[in-house]
Amino acid sequence: MRVSITSLRARFLLSILLWVALGIGAIWYSSVRLFTTHVEDQYHEELEVHVRELGGLTELDARGSPQLTRPLSDPRYAESLSGFYWQITRPGFGELKSPSMTQGELDYDIAHSPKILHRVENGPTGATIVYGFLRDAPGGAPVHFVIATDERHLQRIISAFTRELTVWLALLALALLASGVAIITFGFRPFNRLTAAIDALRKGDERRIAGRYPDEIQAIVTDLNAYVDRNAEIVERGRVEASSLAHSLRTPLAVVTDEAELLLEAGQGDAARVFLDQSSRMQRQIDYHLARVRSGGSKAGVAPRARLDDVVPPLLDAMRRCHPGKTFSAHYPAGLSMPMDADDLSETLSNLLDNAGKWARSHVSIEAREAGGAHCIEVHDDGPGIAPDQRQTVFEIGHSNDSAHTGSGLGLSISRAIARDYGGELTLADAAQGGLRAVISLP
Ligand SMILES: Nc1ncnc2c1ncn2[C@@H]1O[C@H](COP(=O)(O)OP(=O)(O)OP(=O)(O)O)[C@@H](O)[C@H]1O
Ligand SMILES: [Mg+2]
Repeated sequence: MRVSITSLRARFLLSILLWVALGIGAIWYSSVRLFTTHVEDQYHEELEVHVRELGGLTELDARGSPQLTRPLSDPRYAESLSGFYWQITRPGFGELKSPSMTQGELDYDIAHSPKILHRVENGPTGATIVYGFLRDAPGGAPVHFVIATDERHLQRIISAFTRELTVWLALLALALLASGVAIITFGFRPFNRLTAAIDALRKGDERRIAGRYPDEIQAIVTDLNAYVDRNAEIVERGRVEASSLAHSLRTPLAVVTDEAELLLEAGQGDAARVFLDQSSRMQRQIDYHLARVRSGGSKAGVAPRARLDDVVPPLLDAMRRCHPGKTFSAHYPAGLSMPMDADDLSETLSNLLDNAGKWARSHVSIEAREAGGAHCIEVHDDGPGIAPDQRQTVFEIGHSNDSAHTGSGLGLSISRAIARDYGGELTLADAAQGGLRAVISLP
């Protein structure tokens, strides 16, 4: 999955990341807060009960010293330095401490009111939550009841909960992110299909975008197909109109030429030659543009592939018949194809082969190859070649040095126009055998 910050996928992924982080963070914070309050409340309630129980179990003996009728029900008050302590003080009459309080002392002044009060104090084993109250006794001095619990007990419960919650929520976040990625992958599948379909359309493997898409995309696909159809229709109509225009011009042109020839016979040489010259220029232009209209390269952005094995052998057969006494050969990897319409490739090659056949002394060869996605096909001959300073002018429509062979001077210009339709180029160079090397290169 290719991801860049400008891609929709990346945006969705980023949004899901933020969404999960925000959601999980909020759940974590509020759970810890709620749990802490809840546990603290329960803790305090329990301590209040214990201090009340302590008060209930206390009696004063004959000398007025406080005594317990039985130990507190919670065994943690009996365990040495357990963090659970109590202390009963009657100033002047004596003091009782829980068996757990093997060291230290609690400040009995906390219990200075008959109402149960609490606060956090420094106890025998660190910070403690202390509860206490005061009860009047006969004969003056009141009895102070104090109960204390290490805060670390409370902290331990809260941090154990927080730890466990963090692990669980982290796992949940991972699961949510994984399902987010799965959703994005699933949701974007139609786009991947659409990209492939448009690619196939562009390469000419398909003429329309096929298949069913989700409603939101189907609307675009339908529009796109309508656009493609309409484009093909417009191109086709243009093609038909151009060729009918060319055909309708043929007859009047033939009449003009006939008339000019009659004028020539009648001795009106100067005027007749102007007519004949202009008529043949018109004829060449018509032939050139007709050939261009036939070219598949102008078909609505479609660029199919032509297999050389299908195109080249029949061309060579035809050339051997047209140019007896010359030999033709072809060299290219088996199965090689060119990114061109087969008819266009055939038209281009036949122009080049025909030229080479006309001018070669004895041999013409075709060579083709593909390297790094670029294609190249060359026609070599062993004729006189074309001087470098002539290599531009021979491409002009109607330019022909071919007085003996009656060429119309269109072959090279048509071939180059077709190569350019495919984003390629036709260039002329020296062949190894001394003749011309015509090179069609396609990106
Ligand atoms: N292989 C070649 N060797 C030498 N000269 C060439 C070769 N190919 C083309 N030329 C020169 O380039 C000119 C233009 O070629 P082009 O194919 O455009 O026209 P043509 O062959 O004269 O006519 P057409 O191909 O339209 O029947 C030719 O008249 C010829 O002088
Ligand atoms: Mg030619």
